[in-house]
Amino acid sequence: MPENQIPREEGIDYTMPLLKEGYEFIMNRKRSFNSQIFETRIMGKKSLCMSGRDAAQVFYDKDLFKREGAAPNRLVQTLFGENGVQTLDGEEHRSRKEMIMSIMGEENIRKFQEIAVQYWEQSLDQWSKKEEIVLYEEVKELLCKVACLWAGVLVEEEEVDWLTKELSEMFEGAGAVGPLHWKGRNAQNKVEKWMMELVTKIRDGKLIPPEDTALHQFTWAKDADGKLLDPSVVVVEMLNIYRPIVAISVYIAFVAHALIQHPDEYEKLKNADEKYTYMFIDEVRRFYPFFPFVAAKVKQDFTWRDYQIKKDTLAYLDLYGTNHDENLWLYPEEFNPNRFADQGNDRFSFIPQGGGEYLTGHRCAGEQLTIEMMKISLDYLVNHMDYEVPEQDLSYEMNEFPSIPRSKIILRNVERKLTH
Ligand code: HEM
Repeated sequence: MPENQIPREEGIDYTMPLLKEGYEFIMNRKRSFNSQIFETRIMGKKSLCMSGRDAAQVFYDKDLFKREGAAPNRLVQTLFGENGVQTLDGEEHRSRKEMIMSIMGEENIRKFQEIAVQYWEQSLDQWSKKEEIVLYEEVKELLCKVACLWAGVLVEEEEVDWLTKELSEMFEGAGAVGPLHWKGRNAQNKVEKWMMELVTKIRDGKLIPPEDTALHQFTWAKDADGKLLDPSVVVVEMLNIYRPIVAISVYIAFVAHALIQHPDEYEKLKNADEKYTYMFIDEVRRFYPFFPFVAAKVKQDFTWRDYQIKKDTLAYLDLYGTNHDENLWLYPEEFNPNRFADQGNDRFSFIPQGGGEYLTGHRCAGEQLTIEMMKISLDYLVNHMDYEVPEQDLSYEMNEFPSIPRSKIILRNVERKLTH
């Protein structure tokens, strides 16, 4: 019989320490308990925190964990949306995820790359006319345009400004409390309304987006009973495409951050082959903070490592900490793309965008898009443009969700590289 008591943090509630320690909250306790699993209380609820490869593998076992009722309400209000794919389980999840993954095929990814290059070109022309740009802000707008064209909505120039602002507020307010959180909720309501009008127009035959786009596919997708999806669900899943595409700006800011902090890498990347470029991108996704953890609920009583895990307990899987686990990564606090030369990135130890499977599990649907967008952006930053990097505050916080370099990456005198 299992006897072991899961290490438990004594005390009433650890929400404040979580907000203070941020990305390192679970990792700090994993070290002090010397355990991949421990129990604490977050937002008034008993919570299991899990970290490391083996913990990730159990967490993604569909028979043992479910998503229903796991996500904190505040995240549903700004990040996921009601009845979004993130909150589903079993057959319902698989069928919804299939719909989402259907737009992530090879041909559609190629189209995404072409659109991304087209807007990088356009942006570069515009930036060359300015004395200074704030890369993170500029790239958000660039990504919003990419998302619109790729997902099937043509928007006017003035609308791009508005949409970029609202979509950014949704993910920038995701981890916030107070005014920033309310800004995020407000943005969600406004964009949902805008998107609902589009879906209605399409169903009424007044608007016809290209067939292979998310807007077309989702609007006409049917559920398991053969009925068209509720328009509110179409809207939520469309936002699950738009919002995270704009959020790739955070990673692009970190790509630039890494290039500035490691001039040797910048030089190496000028002549790098594709393999090294992908290694660099993976190291950016491993090293920098983005998604701290994901939540699920225990589906049935089970035993893991002699610990009794009880049905309905809330559990958090530590994404950041697993990517920084010293049992998996040599000198995890060093930025070193070469670690990916001989380290395969298996489905449970390298999990910046979740682990496990795409179709049958909750792993990020847009992981490949993210990587390709980062690759194109890296190529522009290294091979297609010259710029100066003025003195600025490049620090970033470990307790902001998402964390973005303070200066948001200021570049001066941007010009097209002539030699390339
Ligand atoms: C910007 C960088 C991104 C990061 C750091 C990120 C991270 C994540 C994480 C951690 C999850 C949750 C995994 C889990 O619940 O186990 C997730 C899920 C998801 N992501 Fe991303 N993501 C990014 C970009 C994207 C993009 C570009 C798209 C779409 C175009 C996207 C669409 C989704 C969807 C639809 C889900 C829900 C999957 C499901 O529940 O089955 N993400 N992402």
